[in-house]
Amino acid sequence: MSRVGIYPGSFDPLTMGHTNIVERSLRFFDVVIVAVLNHPEKRAMFTPEERAGLIRNCFAEEPRVQVDHFDGLLVDYVRSKGATAVIRGLRAVQDFEYEFQMTMMNRRLAPDIDTVFMMTDEEHFYIASRTVKEVARLGGTIDGLVPEVVADAMFQKLGRVR
Ligand code: PNS
Repeated sequence: MSRVGIYPGSFDPLTMGHTNIVERSLRFFDVVIVAVLNHPEKRAMFTPEERAGLIRNCFAEEPRVQVDHFDGLLVDYVRSKGATAVIRGLRAVQDFEYEFQMTMMNRRLAPDIDTVFMMTDEEHFYIASRTVKEVARLGGTIDGLVPEVVADAMFQKLGRVR
């Protein structure tokens, strides 16, 4: 029986912190499904389809990584995949409260599903999709913060050449 971990998130866009979490998770899970929340937001840079496409591109060489979308409750999606583990990245203390609330709510909804927290490499500890977008929008360098294909897509969105 293969161990499936669900890594849900907004991924707007995927950062090196996210890719690091996926790589680490592959040590514990046979399959990692990166599940993009299907919720188009006004302030988002990429549509859910574009985000999923970029993630697929980044993990094209890794057959154990699957990319999918989900709507509605995360726990329902996790069950639909026959999984019992949710993977989340934890950076600093400020992430804890949000993650704690979500985990306990999910546990209340589905006591059989557990959330596993992973920590990124220290070099990726401060990276957040929101700040990467802000830096890119304001003309700063984002080299090394997001995968190359993501950086290219961001600059294309912003109508700039790298
Ligand atoms: O990358 P993010 O934005 O921190 O990811 C948040 C996400 C997608 C994991 C969370 O918003 C979520 O699970 N949404 C689905 C709705 C849901 O299940 N809500 C109940 C738990 S609070």
